[in-house]
Amino acid sequence: MSELTAQEIVDLCIRHTLYDWQAQNAVKPIPVETAKGCEFFTVDGKRYLDFNSQLMGVNIGHGDPRIIQAIKDQADQLAYITPFAATEIRAKLGKKMAEIMPGDLDKVFFTLGGAEANENAIRLARMVTGRQKILARYRSYHGATFATITLTGDPRRWANEPGMPGVVHVLDPYHGPQRPVDDGATALQYLEETIMLEGPSTIAAFILEPVTGTNGILIPPDGYLEGVRELCTRYGILMIADEVMSGFGRTGEWFAVNHWGVVPDMITMAKGLTSSYVPLGAVGMGPKIYDAFADRVYFGGLTYNSHPLGLAAALAMIEAYEEDNTFEHVRKMGEVMRRHHLELQEKHPSVGLVRNIGLFGLLELVRDRQTLEPMAPFNGNSDEMKAVAKYLDDHGLFTFVRWNNIMTNPPLIITEEQLAEGFGIIDGALDIADQAVV
Ligand SMILES: Cc1ncc(COP(=O)(O)O)c(C=O)c1O
Repeated sequence: MSELTAQEIVDLCIRHTLYDWQAQNAVKPIPVETAKGCEFFTVDGKRYLDFNSQLMGVNIGHGDPRIIQAIKDQADQLAYITPFAATEIRAKLGKKMAEIMPGDLDKVFFTLGGAEANENAIRLARMVTGRQKILARYRSYHGATFATITLTGDPRRWANEPGMPGVVHVLDPYHGPQRPVDDGATALQYLEETIMLEGPSTIAAFILEPVTGTNGILIPPDGYLEGVRELCTRYGILMIADEVMSGFGRTGEWFAVNHWGVVPDMITMAKGLTSSYVPLGAVGMGPKIYDAFADRVYFGGLTYNSHPLGLAAALAMIEAYEEDNTFEHVRKMGEVMRRHHLELQEKHPSVGLVRNIGLFGLLELVRDRQTLEPMAPFNGNSDEMKAVAKYLDDHGLFTFVRWNNIMTNPPLIITEEQLAEGFGIIDGALDIADQAVV
């Protein structure tokens, strides 16, 4: 039980702490007290069904006792030690990570979260190749530190520019709901043209989300990721897969690249690595990267590299995924999600496009089923989308409503019944959106 009332908690949080990505006068935080499984509860007793795993990170669901116990046990034994030490938890998790990562990736550098993982990946890429430029896609999010917000292609970058020198953005195969998605070959031609125009010998790495997250659950067209791998190899460019959101079962595999059998030079991860119970990120790499530092210093480091509490949570998490066969469940529930998406698309004229891979999904709302004009413009909002978001909140469904999208990214342990409950609430919200369809 909280000592403070819901209102006191909200008031003090707003008064003394700065919130992300919003004008502070617009902040309306939910006063959360507890969370369990796919649900969380406010201080005054309102229940929410979590349809976004918070920030697409609480993959195992809230309050899993196995993970909590592992964190407690580690805190009792050794809560912190310098990253220059060797610990049993670091030894065990390092070995386990080498087993689950694809191809020859068998070493990790641990960080505090996704942005730091990407920071270190591009630093490694520059040191290994001796080249400076980094390619990234426009429809992407790679973090909010100085370098990673520059890598980020979406409008969150704009206010942070000019940012870090040497980042070049490339177009995605997807161009918004009103234009067809490029096929793999076409998208690769544009990518290769950019590489030629920038000068292949100046480009250290191409960082990309194999399945793009916040920018629209963009699943690559056939051949695209394989072609990116081939182009990177051909031009000596390192391929960095940002799996901060798509990793750890979100798509039904350890990593999204596994769907296409692609082995990047580095994988960055966070979120599902600990299901967000404790902050932890990592850069996975193979000998092509770490051999460069055999006799040369890696000029990078963090006070909290290999923090024992994070590592304990991660090892317990990986063991829990294996014990529960979680990813098999994700593949099954992904099919159930697809059926719900298609039913809603059939029933509601406002549902223009639907996409999912595993439990990574979204609905794109439109004003017109012929032209697919979005219900809110790129980087914008609309009265209808606001009303949809309000309906979902009023009915206890927590998810992200961004631009013209409703995200559907529940914890990976969600049941068929809970999916039906969540999509039932979305069904009600879509009645509001339908009224705007011409
Ligand atoms: C694909 C991707 N990369 C990087 C990040 C940044 O991770 P963090 O917020 O842990 O720094 C995120 C966060 O949403 C992400 O989705």
